[in-house]
Amino acid sequence: MKSLKFAADDGSARPLHLVTKEDLAVFLTVLDPAARAWVEASGFGAKSGEIVLIPAAGGQIAAAAGGLGGRSDRLRKRFIVASLRGKLPEGLWRLETELMDEDLGEAALGWLLAGYKFDRYSSSSDARADLIAPADIHFSRLETIAAGEALVRDLINTPASDMGPDELEQATRDLAGRFGAEVSVVSGDALLGANLPMIHAVGRASPRVPRLIDMTWGKAGPAVTLVGKGVCFDTGGLNLKPATSMGLMKKDMGGAANVLGLAYMLMESNAALRLRVLVPAVENSVSGASFRPGDILTSRKGLTVEINNTDAEGRLVLADALAMADEAKPNLIVSMATLTGAARVAVGPDLAPYYTDSDADAAALEAAARDVRDPVWRMPFWNPYESMIEPGIADLDNAPSGGFAGSITAALFLRRFVTDTSRYMHFDIYGWTPKSEPGRPKGGAGQGIRALFEALPGMLA
Ligand code: BES
Ligand code: MN
Ligand code: ZN
Repeated sequence: MKSLKFAADDGSARPLHLVTKEDLAVFLTVLDPAARAWVEASGFGAKSGEIVLIPAAGGQIAAAAGGLGGRSDRLRKRFIVASLRGKLPEGLWRLETELMDEDLGEAALGWLLAGYKFDRYSSSSDARADLIAPADIHFSRLETIAAGEALVRDLINTPASDMGPDELEQATRDLAGRFGAEVSVVSGDALLGANLPMIHAVGRASPRVPRLIDMTWGKAGPAVTLVGKGVCFDTGGLNLKPATSMGLMKKDMGGAANVLGLAYMLMESNAALRLRVLVPAVENSVSGASFRPGDILTSRKGLTVEINNTDAEGRLVLADALAMADEAKPNLIVSMATLTGAARVAVGPDLAPYYTDSDADAAALEAAARDVRDPVWRMPFWNPYESMIEPGIADLDNAPSGGFAGSITAALFLRRFVTDTSRYMHFDIYGWTPKSEPGRPKGGAGQGIRALFEALPGMLA
């Protein structure tokens, strides 16, 4: 496994010049004549991800140059520097670049993220190039972000056979143990006594018992509650998913993975807030005990829900967790969930669609998202669509027919359960990189949590 940290400077680091196409001519003039001739003869054009090794007189590698592409390419490709890491020979490197601030931060973070590999089931060691922490960046913060992202990816990538409700609870306990956080869990039939009926209903068909995981940390400061969808596998229940849709459903605890990754970042950086993480952890399975289409469930909050599709299970388990979060009236509630296929259809896998009624919170989040290059996209809590989630014989419908605005109606459903807390933000994420890209191998992915990590202190100040 390559390292997710920067290396100590022992004086041996060789320069890695980061060069844009626009800066190529100037770059060539700073090289000594032999190096310049070498780079020119090699045809190095600073194309994105291109690399040239520059020899010393004795045949050693003296330096390297990596291409960032044209300025406009750089807006299209994230984490280009991540692609350079795997192309460099083993040893210690340091960045030589004109990049400033966020660009440099992204370059360095890309490098760290290129060190991630999901190696639980296969071990193969990679060549190892390491980087000295660039001057002028807050490098320990980047290490914190990379480790939080790695946690998210590991949790999502672990198949459901090894990441059921029990293992998700254990992962939360492990995380809590590192920071002295407290964890309490209500599971199985005790969910009924604790008035968490919809978590029980969704999870009861599986022998891997459903539960609500509740972690708290922090003594002072504003209160934030993160709620993450922890559906460890989503078969769709009795309204079973077709094979093509079910294939990836180990990632249906991606919301839980993301809030745990964010919690890691906040605790590791000792954020001045009171944090609570609620994860309803269930497997949406099929058995004689399954909840059924047509059933009407009474939620923790008392609202009744008619089940029109047992595959719209995420909003049910989240509803009880959100109601519980809401009772404590924190300053802010944030939910994250792989909630709808409609969100992915709307914005694809790169953007994290989110909902809030607060323009100020949206502005703060989007500024942070730009700074840390973690793109988010605001969607509307469109009040006129409230009627779509009202079936008539119960208070709410979990799966409105017609299929219009699927991500919005799911978000409106969740918002019904947050009535006493003034600020609520919801992310309908995909949690998965479908095709490997620099710094983002195919598999589980953090979405929106770097932006939140950056934005939260300011939002709550
Ligand atoms: N976990 C799925 C949503 C999902 C599907 C996320 C594919 C990412 C990729 C969720 O539980 C679900 O099945 N939602 C249904 C809701 C519908 C039945 C109202 C959906 O989106 O089709
Ligand atoms: Mn589902
Ligand atoms: Zn689901």
